Amino acid sequence: MYFGVDYHPEQWVYPYGGTRENPEAAWERDVELMQTAGINVVRMGEFIWGLCEPEDGKYDFDWLKRVMDLLGKAGIKVVLATPTAAPPIWLSQIHPEILPVDERGLVKREGTRRAVCLNSNIFWDYSKRIVEQMAKALGQHPQLIAWQIDNSLGGNFTEAAFNEDARRDWHLWLEAKYETIKRLNELMGMRHWGQVVANWSQVPMPMAAPTVHNPALVLDWSRFCSDTIVQFVKMQADLLHQLSPKCPVTTNLRPLIHRFDHFDVAEVIDFVSIESTAALKPKSAELACEIDMLRSLKKSDIRTPDGDTGFWVMEQKAGNVNWQDVNSLVRPGVLRMFTYQLVSRGATAVLFFRWHQPRFGSEQFHGAVLPHRADPKGRVFQEVAQLGEEMKLLAPSLKGTRVQAETCILYSHDNDWVLQEPMQPNKFFSLREHIQLFYTALHDRNIAVDFARPTEDLSHYKLVFAPSLHLLSGGEADRLKLYVQNGGTLVATFNTGLVDEHNIAPDTGYPHDLTDLFGLEVVEFDQLPPGEENHLVFKGNFPTNHMHPARLWCDIIEPKDCQVIATYAKDFYAGQPALTLHTFGLGKAIYVGTQSHQHFYTDLVTWLRQMCNLHPLLKVPDSVEVSLRQKDDERIFFLLNHQNSPLRIQFYEPMHDFLTGSTITGNYDLPPHGVLVLDEHAKGQT
Ligand code: GLA
Repeated sequence: MYFGVDYHPEQWVYPYGGTRENPEAAWERDVELMQTAGINVVRMGEFIWGLCEPEDGKYDFDWLKRVMDLLGKAGIKVVLATPTAAPPIWLSQIHPEILPVDERGLVKREGTRRAVCLNSNIFWDYSKRIVEQMAKALGQHPQLIAWQIDNSLGGNFTEAAFNEDARRDWHLWLEAKYETIKRLNELMGMRHWGQVVANWSQVPMPMAAPTVHNPALVLDWSRFCSDTIVQFVKMQADLLHQLSPKCPVTTNLRPLIHRFDHFDVAEVIDFVSIESTAALKPKSAELACEIDMLRSLKKSDIRTPDGDTGFWVMEQKAGNVNWQDVNSLVRPGVLRMFTYQLVSRGATAVLFFRWHQPRFGSEQFHGAVLPHRADPKGRVFQEVAQLGEEMKLLAPSLKGTRVQAETCILYSHDNDWVLQEPMQPNKFFSLREHIQLFYTALHDRNIAVDFARPTEDLSHYKLVFAPSLHLLSGGEADRLKLYVQNGGTLVATFNTGLVDEHNIAPDTGYPHDLTDLFGLEVVEFDQLPPGEENHLVFKGNFPTNHMHPARLWCDIIEPKDCQVIATYAKDFYAGQPALTLHTFGLGKAIYVGTQSHQHFYTDLVTWLRQMCNLHPLLKVPDSVEVSLRQKDDERIFFLLNHQNSPLRIQFYEPMHDFLTGSTITGNYDLPPHGVLVLDEHAKGQT
C-alpha cells in the first residue's frame, strides 16, 4: 500500500530553503522527515512546466532527476504529474490565442494556472512536446511508478472556453454527430424561436445571450466540452503508454463537482484518483458519497502501480484549505478518521496535499503536513506519521481486498447537466441533494453502495436506485426493464423519463418508455415552493412511525396495474398515488412520485432491506460508520466514530483488532473520531 505526500521540491531551493552553498539542501531534510513519517511515495511536478521549459524549446529536467535520485536512496517512489495544468507565461505571450475566452467573450489572462482553451491546436502541440520530453527524460527512472495527467481537470471553472478554436471543433463535433444539418435542426428542435441553421458554421456556441439557449444545444455543448477534456487526457495517456509503458497513468478527479464525464475519463486511464476535502467539515455521508462515486468510475481493467484494484487518493487535504471564507483547522483525530474513511471505501494509496506549507504564492496559508517552520513535532505531522505506522501495519492484510456492493445508485452526467440548465420545473430541485437522500439512508444503515451509469450491467445488484433520470435514452430504459424482468428491484422517482437523449419530451406519457415497467402513467407534475408541503398517507405494511412530507415536486399519477403504497394527503390530487410498487417479470419496480425528508428514505430503506434480503454489515449505533473490504473469506471491517463523544458498541462475537493486536468482545467505547479495523479471526477462533 502506498502512503505519501504531494511534494513541491521546486519551492524549497535557496533562498526559500537550503543554503547559498548547497541550494538544494532542504530536499535532504525533507526526505529524512518523509522517512520518519512512513512515506513511501510522492507526487511531484503538476505545475513545473515553466521551470522545466524556461524558454521555448529549452528543457531542464536535471533538477527533477536529482530529486528523484535522492528519493530513491530512501526507497521513496514517485508519481510524476505532467505539467500541462500551468502553461508557462512565455507560451501565452507568444501565442495569446491559447488563452480561454469566457461566455461573455472576454479573455481570461495568463499568470496563474489553467488559462488555456483545450481546443487550441497550438496548446495541444506544446502539451505533447512537454509530455514527450518529460517522459523521455524521466520515464525510465527506477523510482517512477505512475503518471498523473495534468491536474484537477476542469478546476477553477475551466471546463469550457468559447475561442474560435472551440467554435471550429464544436462544428466538427456536431457534423460527426448529426451528419446532416437537417437532422441537427430536427433533433435539436431549432424551430423554436425560428433558430434553424443552414450550415454547420451557423450553429452558435451558447455564449451570454438575452435569455436561455436551446436546452438541447446547451446539452450538446456540455457533451462537446467533456469530449474535449477526455480527448486531451487520452492524447497524453497514449503518449505516456508509448514512452513509459511500465507506468500506469491516472488523473486526480472530483466527481460530482467538475463538469465533464468522469466515466469517460476513467476509460482512457489505468486507475482513478480522488482529491478529497475532509477539511471542509461536510457530513460524513456526503464525503462517503463522493468516495463511492469515484470508486465506481472504474470497475474493471484497473492497472495500479502495485497491482491492487482500488483507487488512489492523490490529494487528501492535510489540514485547512485556503479558499474558503474562513479556513478552520481540522480538529485532532479528524484527518486520521477521514483518511480511514477513504481506505475503508477502497483506497489503496493515500497522499496528503501538501508536504510543506509554501512560503510564497497564492497557497501560502494552505494547510500542510509541515507548517512553514518545518517542525516534525507539529500536530499534523504527528498525526500523519501515526497513520504512516498504521498503514504499514495494515497493508499486508488489506492487499487484494475490495469493497463489494449489492446496491447501486444510477447516475449519468448527461442527466446531471440537463438538470443544471435554467428553466427547470423547479429551480429548488437539486439532483445532488436528491441522490444524497437515498445515499445517506443506505450509508446510515451501513449498506455498501456503488454508482453506475444506467447502461452498465446491473444484474449483480439486488437493489438499484434511479433518482430523477430526467434524461433517459431508449437504450437506458431497456436496460432498466431487463434488470427488473430478470429479478432485480428498481426504485425510480419523479422527474424521470421526461426527455430522451436528444432532450425531446415524449408524446406517449411519462416516464417515457417505462410506463409499462412501473404500471402507471404520470399525467401532470405539481411544483411546490420551499416551505410548502403535502403529506404522504401510507397503506399496507410500509414501516413508518413518522409523518412524511411531500416536497418540491408531486407527480400526479394515474395507476394502471401497480399497487399503491402511499397517496397524497391533500390538494386536488389528494388520494392519488405517491408511492407505488409493480411486479414486472421476476422483479419489482417501485416509483416514488415526490421528494420527502431524510426519515422517509430511512424508512424506505428499511422496507426495501426486508424485500431484498439486504443485511447491514454490523449492528452498531447509528452514528458509527461501518465499511467492509473483503477478499475470498477474509472480511475486514472499518468502524468510524464521527461524533465528538465516545460511542459504546456491543460486540456479540469476539473480534480481532488489527491496530492493537488485541481481541475485542462485549462492550467497547469507541473514542471521539476513533477508528477500529477488525476481522472475525479473534484469538482462539478460526
Ligand atoms: C486542488 C488542486 C491543488 C490545490 C488544492 C487546494 O486540489 O489540485 O493544486 O490547489 O486544490 O486546496
